Amino acid sequence: MKERLEALKAEALQELAQVTNQQQLNDMRVKYLGKKGPLTEVLRGMGALSAEERPVIGQVANDVRGAIEAVIEGKQAEYQQAETESRLRAETIDVTLPGRPSGLGAMHPISKVIQQIEDIFIGMGYIVAEGPEVEQDYYNFEALNLPKNHPARDMQDSFYVTDDILLRTHTSPVQVRTMEKMKGEVPVKIICPGRVYRRDDDDATHSHMFTQIEGLVIDRNIRMSDLKGTLLQFVQELFGKQTQIRMRPSFFPFTEPSAEVDVTCAMCGGEGCRVCKQTGWLEILGSGMVHPRVLEMAGYDPEEYSGFAFGMGVERIAMLKYDVEDIRHFYTNDLRFLKQFVHL
Ligand code: DAH
Repeated sequence: MKERLEALKAEALQELAQVTNQQQLNDMRVKYLGKKGPLTEVLRGMGALSAEERPVIGQVANDVRGAIEAVIEGKQAEYQQAETESRLRAETIDVTLPGRPSGLGAMHPISKVIQQIEDIFIGMGYIVAEGPEVEQDYYNFEALNLPKNHPARDMQDSFYVTDDILLRTHTSPVQVRTMEKMKGEVPVKIICPGRVYRRDDDDATHSHMFTQIEGLVIDRNIRMSDLKGTLLQFVQELFGKQTQIRMRPSFFPFTEPSAEVDVTCAMCGGEGCRVCKQTGWLEILGSGMVHPRVLEMAGYDPEEYSGFAFGMGVERIAMLKYDVEDIRHFYTNDLRFLKQFVHL
């Protein structure tokens, strides 16, 4: 039996020496150490041995098993090491390679202009207010002194959702909402940026959706000169210190008196050019003293309080400031256009 075991060992070791890969090694393990292998078979036959022989043969069998296992484990470790090394080699990351640039987004030019304008007014103590784009007829028209069937409603062709609900045609309804919220408290000092909607045919200067910024100040003793001084300060911060304004009489149902405000053309400095159509002036906003009826409807006694308001189109201001000739550029999202404003 001992000879058989020794022969088995010699055979196994010789065969193992030929092994070159993991698969063959697995096969060897099964062949020599498996339940159906020759070693197990020899050990099963030990019952037939005498009591003296049993420990001797047992010892030899264990030695043989140990020797075969040792070789297998040695090879196993070798293969594992080789496998790890080849994986490390294959998965090497060259940290010195330059990275792929990940295109950084940027703010839309209209958002940037809104932010610039907000910053100027925040610097003058204003608070930024907001209101809904889907608005009640009451706030959009009625409470702004534009009762149903008032002819001035035609100035702003509207998208109606129902008889009483529409897409707001201007940001002026936020004036009313703010005054209602303030419940007669003063001072009221807000600006409100937001989208507005009109049934206009789109062309180079008209869009069915655009952006306005509304301003409203209510307090005791607010005068037209406060409006003028505020707007002068504003345009000089936005367009430059040399900018001047002029006010022309106008009409809005929610202000009395009303004024249209022009700034000196930044392109030609007031000389007259293509942009200002040779006038030297550019119209940028509507404004006026808040109409007593509007104050009254929103809960402010017009005998005690007065205020001014103004509203401007952000796209128009952006077009003038950056010499953009077509309002539709702001909405068509052509990156060649948008990228020019990344560093504003
Ligand atoms: N809401 C007006 C418009 O969209 C603009 C405007 C004019 C707003 C005068 C005002 C204002 O607050 O006082 O045409």
